[in-house]
Amino acid sequence: MSILSLNNISFAYDSTPVLKDLSMEFEKGKIYCIMGRSGAGKTTLLSILSGLANPKEGSIYYEGKDIKKLNKYTFRSKYIGVIFQSFNLITKYTALENVVLSMDIAGVKGIKKKDKALELLKNVGLNEEEANRRVLKLSGGQQQRVAIARALSYDPAIILADEPTGNLDGDTQKEIMEIFRRLAEEGKCVILVSHSPAVAALCDERYELKKIR
Ligand SMILES: Nc1ncnc2c1ncn2[C@@H]1O[C@H](COP(=O)(O)OP(=O)(O)O)[C@@H](O)[C@H]1O
Ligand SMILES: [Mg+2]
Repeated sequence: MSILSLNNISFAYDSTPVLKDLSMEFEKGKIYCIMGRSGAGKTTLLSILSGLANPKEGSIYYEGKDIKKLNKYTFRSKYIGVIFQSFNLITKYTALENVVLSMDIAGVKGIKKKDKALELLKNVGLNEEEANRRVLKLSGGQQQRVAIARALSYDPAIILADEPTGNLDGDTQKEIMEIFRRLAEEGKCVILVSHSPAVAALCDERYELKKIR
């Protein structure tokens, strides 16, 4: 069964239609690539998938339940981990502090948060010295890794990432894709937005968004 499904979704900003009658299915254990030209509505679609924006028409189901009937806050802060295009990290904080803060916000309890955060950062390739460095002093690729560790901080079932390899060199892009592959193998559902054919080729399924205007 799909963990997430979109059924006949339409969305508009005021009178500007962006998505029309869109249906998609997402399963655990797979990496999906959402492709499309600039302005096609990819970021808008991620906002809808993450519960940040509401579709004008249609429904979204999480494990068969309409998310309108779920607590929006729980959905966003427990089931879905989002990696934004601009990372949205607090740059004056260390990598470690960013991950721990995210656990605090999600209400993670009963574990040693700092140890867990260090482990998550290590799993995405950052050592303890880097984990304790301010984000401002990390490279773009390292910041991307922090953003991934943060999205994983409360162990969500679904990971959404907007152009996660957009500004990275080829080798770093490959390493980041290997992290997503590992997460899929661990059973997570990974949904990426990318217009890179190289990234799309490393995903299991591809959806193409077309401009509707
Ligand atoms: N907050 C907004 N208000 C009005 N129009 C928007 C807003 N955000 C995006 N748009 C418009 O919606 C369309 C889709 O944008 P977006 O989802 O960002 O596309 P993509 O990520 O595929 O480049 C574009 O025409 C964009 O100008
Ligand atoms: Mg975008």
